Amino acid sequence: MNGGFMGTVPRNRTGSQEYDEENLGFGSIFTDHMLQISFSAGKGGWQPPQILPMDNLVLHPATMILHYGQQVFEGLKAFAGPNEEDIFLFRPDMNIDRFNKSCERLCIPTVDPDLFMDQMCRLIRMDRDWIPRAPGTSVYVRPTIIGSEPHLGVRPSQEYLFYIILSPVGAYYPEGFAPVKIMVTDKYIRACRGGVGEAKTAANYAASLLAAEEAHAEGFTQVLWLNAVDRVSIEEVGTMNIFFRINDEIITPALEGTILPGVTRDSVIRFARGMGLKVTERQVSIEEVVRAAEDGSLQEIFGSGTAAVISPVSSFRYKGRDHLVADGKTGNVAATLFEEIVAIQTGAKPDPYGWVVNIGKA
Ligand code: COI
Repeated sequence: MNGGFMGTVPRNRTGSQEYDEENLGFGSIFTDHMLQISFSAGKGGWQPPQILPMDNLVLHPATMILHYGQQVFEGLKAFAGPNEEDIFLFRPDMNIDRFNKSCERLCIPTVDPDLFMDQMCRLIRMDRDWIPRAPGTSVYVRPTIIGSEPHLGVRPSQEYLFYIILSPVGAYYPEGFAPVKIMVTDKYIRACRGGVGEAKTAANYAASLLAAEEAHAEGFTQVLWLNAVDRVSIEEVGTMNIFFRINDEIITPALEGTILPGVTRDSVIRFARGMGLKVTERQVSIEEVVRAAEDGSLQEIFGSGTAAVISPVSSFRYKGRDHLVADGKTGNVAATLFEEIVAIQTGAKPDPYGWVVNIGKA
């Protein structure tokens, strides 16, 4: 990697930076340190981990990530618990596993899961004073790996940088937990079978931007994505998985290669089943949802993701027609899932599933 990753550019943020816990927003404030582990095929693979001051990366202009997008990332949250020393992670094993699956799809070397977990916890503990305590806040943990070899031929990079950064966050959407309006697009697609839709990689997010911008310009918060081939089966909403409640059945699209296997998605399915609700993973078409909206059997729509947890939908537009959902309000199931999952994540309620890992003590 051309002389190392740490540049001499001064840091943008310092530990003395004041921030308002009540108005954190999402993803603009960073803690004092970052983890870096480099990989070099020519030097025998993975190099020793380093925790370094948060700083800019210095990259050669030919660095492969900048040209061919060989990158994978993850997102999980660290929560302050009721006791001073508690730091809770929510199902980190699922993020680590998904990270490595994404790496395999992008021809990136996988990271040893134990090393990943140990080093991530070391970093979080080091910057523990940054974990906010206000309701709805956490430290968002962003593990990332990039092809870091300076080379212009198209092939997998021979060098990689795996790094983890931490960002104190509040609500992902400016609306907070308030219901959002979504726009169904049959013009653009997010992913197709055989592509990279089920990997957490930058390309999926880049591909989503134009549709999202067009939807924003028309007053919508998110885009509802349809299947690339039939343009009818529903896949995801914005950067989240999607759930429908129709006739008291909770339905979410089955994972068939194009949909991100969300940690919150899995938690919602298991928690809702634990509440005695019927949850089905299957194909669901936009036509079925429109029919349900028209005949009154559509009770709720909500998205699920790490960043927002649960995001209720107040209405959707399809082929120029607007359809109201749950009278434009937050549905009961979405509200309960949000409250209960957040209560488990933050230790406010017991965790019957063994999802929460307390990493507060070394
Ligand atoms: C999530 O909902 O957790 C996401 O994937 C959004 C993230 C890319 C900011």
